[in-house]
Amino acid sequence: MDNVLIMGIESSCDETSVSILSGGKTILSNIISSQISIHREFGGVVPEIASRQHLEAINGVMQAALDEAGVTLADINAIAVTAGPGLVGALLVGVSFAKALAYSLGIPLIPVHHIEGHISANYVAHPDLEPPFVCLVASGGHSHIVYAKDYSDFEILGRTRDDAAGEAFDKISRVLGLGYPGGPAVEKAAESGNKTAFKFPRVHLDNRFDFSFSGVKTAVINEIHKVKQKNEDLNINDVAASFQEAVTDILVENTIAAAKFKNVKTVCMAGGVASNTYLKNKMADSASKCGITLYSPPPVLCTDNAAMIACAGYFEYKKGNFSDLSLNAYPSLQLGENIIM
Ligand code: KG4
Ligand code: ZN
Repeated sequence: MDNVLIMGIESSCDETSVSILSGGKTILSNIISSQISIHREFGGVVPEIASRQHLEAINGVMQAALDEAGVTLADINAIAVTAGPGLVGALLVGVSFAKALAYSLGIPLIPVHHIEGHISANYVAHPDLEPPFVCLVASGGHSHIVYAKDYSDFEILGRTRDDAAGEAFDKISRVLGLGYPGGPAVEKAAESGNKTAFKFPRVHLDNRFDFSFSGVKTAVINEIHKVKQKNEDLNINDVAASFQEAVTDILVENTIAAAKFKNVKTVCMAGGVASNTYLKNKMADSASKCGITLYSPPPVLCTDNAAMIACAGYFEYKKGNFSDLSLNAYPSLQLGENIIM
């Protein structure tokens, strides 16, 4: 089992990625073809363009993954693929490709939930990590606080009621004219800004682990309008720093509260927003004050990649959670929802 070779395939949004993992956690290759430069001129991901780009890229990305790993298709033991959630056309490219490979090679096909993938990136980055733990999953499409009871057994403790954290970063970046994707641009601008210049709202909801980022987004936009109406100069860096402060405060507060609620001493982070160094440092400070150990993947394993899908696939492989060839793409798939046919 420890030498099993899993090929992971990820195509749910704007990254075409294929990875080969040995024993579930050792990366032999993790090739990521990003479409960011293509979508940048539109200010966000254009679904139809994304599907076409995946189609063009996937064969070459798979070959590069095999070459870098120094293996051939005949060596692969199973194919793990993101089956949802995500853009339906984009998902279908990966799912169809995975089905064709599994069929022609006569090996198991493993559907993987994209968020389970993001969480599993922590096992790749920290092979000694074991469940249970609480994980903050914050990306462009999701903001969840998940209790990972076991390798593929999850309970969602909190979720966003409106925008995902990464989506809020992207929108604020756009109104500040900082470009796409917004997270890294806002983080960079914030480095030279004053985080106490503006007091943006921190929303607390009746489920104390849920998030809402639409209020902070509106507050930022109103503040920008006010400054412009007064014909004053807007210090973009101050807005970015104050916005980042508000968002990271609530992400950290809710995650640590959830860890205390579940009485776990391990917290993980996942998703594109987890590559934000300011957030990582704030989470680490808060965790250490409570005797909690923080794990987070390096940036390349935070944003979308296929190594995380192959890792999640490995744990499903051990349980025999295989799909037949009627597997579809599930754009709104819920974590824990059974799609095995
Ligand atoms: O996980 P991911 O690659 O794709 C989804 O599954 O959505 O996450 C992309 C999101 C984008 O919204 C991007 O702006 C955000 O992650 N992001 C960041 C940072 N790097 C990427 N947000 C805040 N700070 C960053 N450094
Ligand atoms: Zn993602």
